[in-house]
Amino acid sequence: MTRGPATTCRLSSVLAAGLAIGALVSSTFRSGDESEPELGTDRPPADLIDEMDLGQKTALTHGHAFDRNPLDRRQTGYVEPVPELDIPPLKLTDGPHGVRRGPATAFPAGVNQISTWDCDRLYAVGNAMGREAKTMDQDVLLAPAINIVRVPTGGRTFEYFGEDPSLAARGAVATIRGIQDAGTIATAKHFVANNQEGKPRFRAGSDVPVLRSLLQRGSRFVADSQVGERALRELYLPAFRAAVEEADVGAVMTAYNSVNGDYVSENAHLFDVLENEWGFDGFTVSDWLLGVKSLNGSIEAGLDLEMPYGLFYGLPLRLGLTLGSVDEATIDGMIERTLGQMERFGILQGERVGPSGVANTAEHQRLARETAADGAVLLKNEPIGDGDPLLPIDPDRVESIAVIGDAIDTATVGGGGSSAVSPPYTVSPLAGIEARLGADVRIVTADPTNGIDRVVDVAESVECVLVFVQDAATEGVDRYDMALPGRQNEVVSAVAEANDRVAVILNTGGPVTMPWVAAVPAICELWYPGMADGLATADVVFGDVDPGGKLPITFGARFDDYPVSTPEQYPGVATTVTYTEGVFVGYRHFDAHDIDPLFPFGHGESYTTFDYGELSVSPAETALDRPISVAIPVENTGDRSGREVVQVYVAPTEPSVPRPPKELRAFEAVTLAPGERTVVELTLSSDDFAYYDDSLADWVVDPGEYTILAGSSSRDIRASHPIRIR
Ligand code: GLC
Repeated sequence: MTRGPATTCRLSSVLAAGLAIGALVSSTFRSGDESEPELGTDRPPADLIDEMDLGQKTALTHGHAFDRNPLDRRQTGYVEPVPELDIPPLKLTDGPHGVRRGPATAFPAGVNQISTWDCDRLYAVGNAMGREAKTMDQDVLLAPAINIVRVPTGGRTFEYFGEDPSLAARGAVATIRGIQDAGTIATAKHFVANNQEGKPRFRAGSDVPVLRSLLQRGSRFVADSQVGERALRELYLPAFRAAVEEADVGAVMTAYNSVNGDYVSENAHLFDVLENEWGFDGFTVSDWLLGVKSLNGSIEAGLDLEMPYGLFYGLPLRLGLTLGSVDEATIDGMIERTLGQMERFGILQGERVGPSGVANTAEHQRLARETAADGAVLLKNEPIGDGDPLLPIDPDRVESIAVIGDAIDTATVGGGGSSAVSPPYTVSPLAGIEARLGADVRIVTADPTNGIDRVVDVAESVECVLVFVQDAATEGVDRYDMALPGRQNEVVSAVAEANDRVAVILNTGGPVTMPWVAAVPAICELWYPGMADGLATADVVFGDVDPGGKLPITFGARFDDYPVSTPEQYPGVATTVTYTEGVFVGYRHFDAHDIDPLFPFGHGESYTTFDYGELSVSPAETALDRPISVAIPVENTGDRSGREVVQVYVAPTEPSVPRPPKELRAFEAVTLAPGERTVVELTLSSDDFAYYDDSLADWVVDPGEYTILAGSSSRDIRASHPIRIR
């Protein structure tokens, strides 16, 4: 009896369970200190494949180890070598904030990195992480994480590059180029529409995160993202498209969820877009453990590598090849893509391309500190009475200061889950402040967990107060709501009552509600700053660095202001998450519905001020067959150096279909000395005016009037100029 795919599939599920146990046992007791022979070959992948037997071929389609091995911390993913053919192993490690295997430089979280809006900075961080991975004998870095932030309480908001596809695409390209120029394979993840982890049934703070994860609704493992083609094309796919077409990314990780009914790891349409439309020639790798849902579905769609074990691509695939239900030529194509990337980066030859590896250097640690400071977003900094704003606090004049918070002695290195990094050291907020102020300033601390009365006493006894508040976001489960956990809001309000010179420092992974927003004169978002937390915090608070960051995510006043406020939209009904909002996500939604955010997308103040001159657009009328030049003069009109991110939006005047009132299309970060003036020149193309027409299954540019907007945020437009598209 020949077994058809369905039979093989059922059989493989049974085998998969058995295999998982076997793999776990074998990897658990395998010594981690086996010295691997130096392998490498100059033979082209096609020749190598010609000589492989079925066992060798299937072994190159899946992982063999997992780094939770209690006896040995192995890298996150491991594809075994083929010594008979001198093929080295392929080693994969997380993640977007540094090399998980560690000890490694813990860079600020993805949300910090993208809040710099500085592609040179993102490139430098990517390059440093790529070199650190190389030092630790890791071939693939599972970064960057580039899913769009659709749900403000999403568990992995801290890892991602915000709510806007243009910003996320620029961040992805810069990071990937950085990683890969270091000679390490980058991985664009999680392809695609993996926009939630799952909504917990009860508030965080419980010490049963596993239970919270298991009881959640709309879990990423089973959620089906029902999302229209236009929203996919205009919002969720662009960063992945840029990763492939502009950065030539070596790997793409498929998401756990399904899209429009098909799991991504076996979604023929998405693989067709990735490989046939965009020309992706790297390898696709599943997400870990539950990333592959069937053997035949994944093989037919084109998934190349199953991680971390061969639950389907191990024995079941071997069986399928033997029984003829899987075509060997298909497997040859899969392993040729993986070996092709190993060859491209010198891994196959045993001689990695690019510069030498370096790790935990003073230069990388300085880069982590500078990125955290440049990603700091000054949300508010109002004058106190008729005086000056509170920030920056002058370290040479302040005589007493209170530092208040639940965790001022602990650096906020990052969020929970696979992006975690173990740095050689960390600097807590308090340590950074003490180091900057020295012994002459009276620093008083208070931990609110010891009672609010003490907090009030301390706040009343000093010149000014820094109050640190934080959330605790993690992969695997979304935040319960937008509120700061515990009694933190109560603490801030009490401190604001006790002293009018209060700055609130946020260490959150995304938007939070701020019931005390009117009661405090200064608020600065430092997100998850990484190992250099306290140093970067002090750099910003005491004015050594201008907090030049801009929000990559809208900070709404309440959850229901976001376009995910119905159960169907989030967390979904049963396992179906319906993206009824279409392209109206983030500021696109807030603008279209004229909703006032607490702090808008692109917002971020500076310690100085900037004036924008007249915007010029050339040509002002065009058939879009040539680039459009946009020039904006910007001047630092304050008395100290500062950093500004000039943002350019395109606004259709009379769109033929419902379109967002404006969409970010270009930006540039500039640092100017007092009185310095520059002209920011940016280029727009036809893509920047297009929308995706589902009925035509193609991009369309409506002829007619548009307005080019230049602003300091999406709601602070400083200059505009009409343009006519013929
Ligand atoms: C996790 C994450 C992914 C990570 C992988 C390996 O489930 O979704 O981002 O790279 O597993 O740790």
